[in-house]
Amino acid sequence: MFFEHLGAGGCQSYLIGCAESCAAALIDPEISLIDRYLALAARAGLRIHYLIDTHTHADHFSATQELTRRLDIPVAMHRMSPAPFVDLKLDDGDMLVVGKLRLQVLHTPGHTRDSMCLRVEDRVFTGDTLLIGATGRTDLPSGDPDALYDSLFNRVLRLDPTLKVHPAHEYKSRSHSTIAQELAENPRLQIRDRVAFVEMMRNLNLSMPTHVTEALRTNMSGGKTVAQMLTEAAATVPFMSLLELQTRIEAGTNELVVLDVRERDAYEEGHIPGARLLPRGQLELRVNQDLPDPTRRIIACCEFGRISTLATATLREMGYQRAVALDGGMKAWREAGYPVKSGREP
Ligand SMILES: [Fe+2]
Repeated sequence: MFFEHLGAGGCQSYLIGCAESCAAALIDPEISLIDRYLALAARAGLRIHYLIDTHTHADHFSATQELTRRLDIPVAMHRMSPAPFVDLKLDDGDMLVVGKLRLQVLHTPGHTRDSMCLRVEDRVFTGDTLLIGATGRTDLPSGDPDALYDSLFNRVLRLDPTLKVHPAHEYKSRSHSTIAQELAENPRLQIRDRVAFVEMMRNLNLSMPTHVTEALRTNMSGGKTVAQMLTEAAATVPFMSLLELQTRIEAGTNELVVLDVRERDAYEEGHIPGARLLPRGQLELRVNQDLPDPTRRIIACCEFGRISTLATATLREMGYQRAVALDGGMKAWREAGYPVKSGREP
């Protein structure tokens, strides 16, 4: 069995494959690791057949929807998943066939209603139901400590004690543990009385994960993250460095239209000499009037270089085929000591 785990800030994802047939499945992929998954599968000579999320993640951005678009393979989740892009809804006792591998589905609600564990050969992928030395939290949407008690003590912990445990989270770089080890050492599992366990889970008082709103929004709807919007826009436009722009301005060729897409107050406080103001929010409304020549070379700038990337992508889409984005923004421009002008331009 081919097995590789990849971590992103404590979130664990797993590429598992059948060495004989070269079929593979990807469990809990995270959006920033897409190139690594694809490169890893290619290097190992594997073809991914299924994209699996063990549950609706509230703390990281799932890559399943992006990968299903690219690879044209199904996203599999438990049938309680609210995500509209799930192609394969699984139920307790179902099995996914990946070459010679058999992935057994255990519905283990508690961390979320749609949580499941996957048992494959000598290991079990426990999602956020069972972590090494901890359990998934139950205070996020659809969490239920009572259900988690049943999922742990009446399901997962009754599996073969020698099974390796691979959770969806691990912050201390431990690769895995075993069911036996968790039974013996996991502090939360020492509380075996249901009422006491539920009480303990209700009083953990954990802080909210970062990006919880955005993670739930995108993972539940299939919508895009802000970072995704920026990456996609950046892939469609060329950039120009601060130094290159400064050199061209100094040369005084007037070839470039510097377009400042921030709001008026930021622009008037300090902009690149000669820059024109056209706030991003008004771009489509004013573009015909302000930029009548679509063959002009336009360079868009903003404060940090992100909104200008989106603006440049929009300009290119509208036919300004020589639009480029400044690599960096006004903040970097000022810090580099390049000239800044305040007030309005004539
Ligand atoms: Fe989770």
